[in-house]
Amino acid sequence: MKIVIIGGTGLIGSKLVRKLREQGHDALAASPNTGVNSITCEGLANALKGASVVVDVTNSPSWEDAAVLKFFETSTRNLLSNEAAEGVGHHVALSVVGTERLLESGFFRAKFAQENLIKASSIPYSIVRATQFFEFVKSIGDFSTDGNKIPLPPALIQPMAADDVASAVSRVAVGPPLNGTVEIGGPEKFHLDELIRMDLTARKDPRKVITDPQGRYYGIKVTERALIPDDNARLGETRFEEWLKQSTKQAPRPALQPA
Ligand SMILES: NC(=O)c1ccc[n+]([C@@H]2O[C@H](COP(=O)([O-])OP(=O)(O)OC[C@H]3O[C@@H](n4cnc5c(N)ncnc54)[C@H](OP(=O)(O)O)[C@@H]3O)[C@@H](O)[C@H]2O)c1
Repeated sequence: MKIVIIGGTGLIGSKLVRKLREQGHDALAASPNTGVNSITCEGLANALKGASVVVDVTNSPSWEDAAVLKFFETSTRNLLSNEAAEGVGHHVALSVVGTERLLESGFFRAKFAQENLIKASSIPYSIVRATQFFEFVKSIGDFSTDGNKIPLPPALIQPMAADDVASAVSRVAVGPPLNGTVEIGGPEKFHLDELIRMDLTARKDPRKVITDPQGRYYGIKVTERALIPDDNARLGETRFEEWLKQSTKQAPRPALQPA
């Protein structure tokens, strides 16, 4: 089966391409770096020729409110119209758990617009909503840093490994279109302040997390359960502590060379 991964060079995209190829599929990594652009349409029609499925795991180069909205609207419209022209039978997109609860953020307004364009199109679709990736946890703390302190609310969060995200998306991509949304998440819930504290400790980062019920997640207010999926979510297996141990392991020192 030919499966085109738009954003196939990114964090999730590159893992997804590898997994689909391992299963014997003809997975094409499509992105500006490989000559395919969903904004300008360069190389797009050609990439989609003969494709059964298109998976959209792009991200916007800018997260500024107007820029990110323009990116996801333009890119999604271009993908859906080119897919219709080429007879693609399944559009899969990666979105974020809780998007409709996070609309104070321009990024989530853009993801919401992306989801709505997909739902309104004639192409059979599946939307996979994932929780925050483990790989993204550090940047949550970085974003809220004020000097040596990081004020964060104790909201619940259920992050997952990018590798488990890619596995879940690959399963959806090779299955029949859901014409609906599925949620995926990690195996454990944390409080956001506690999660960032664990991450800082493992990285020997001296910044201090301050538990602050008025603190923000990426600049916006969140309720206690805004970031977590519902009980039907499909859960990944990798635990945060396990992943953290691996990702903070020091590279072995090179052996000393004789003088
Ligand atoms: N971060 C999280 O915790 C989280 C949680 C849930 C869902 N998500 C969603 O997961 C998706 C993928 O995230 P990621 O971290 O894997 O992204 P990423 O590593 O930033 O990769 C973004 C990809 O988009 C491609 N791209 C950018 N502009 C493009 C264009 N004009 N045409 C085609 N491709 C373009 C990039 O291509 P080049 O390499 O060629 O520039 C790259 O392959 C995003 O939509 C995000 O909203 C993220």
